[in-house]
Amino acid sequence: MPKKSLPKIDNDTCIGCSACISACPVSVLEMDGDKAVLKDAAGCTSCGACVDSCPVSAIAMEDRDA
Ligand code: F3S
Repeated sequence: MPKKSLPKIDNDTCIGCSACISACPVSVLEMDGDKAVLKDAAGCTSCGACVDSCPVSAIAMEDRDA
């Protein structure tokens, strides 16, 4: 299966500020309660904007099955 670089959000670190959701140019992140989640892995362009936007460094890009 092909791999794709996707954001992995550490739930224990995320403070639910929604900065990553605002930063995403293709709107593939959303809030699930008070945590951010990737809702559309297929739509992610692997740009890394969410990683840069997070004030607590809760997001890292990770190669996962596409
Ligand atoms: Fe905020 Fe998203 Fe980080 S909600 S704390 S920018 S994972």
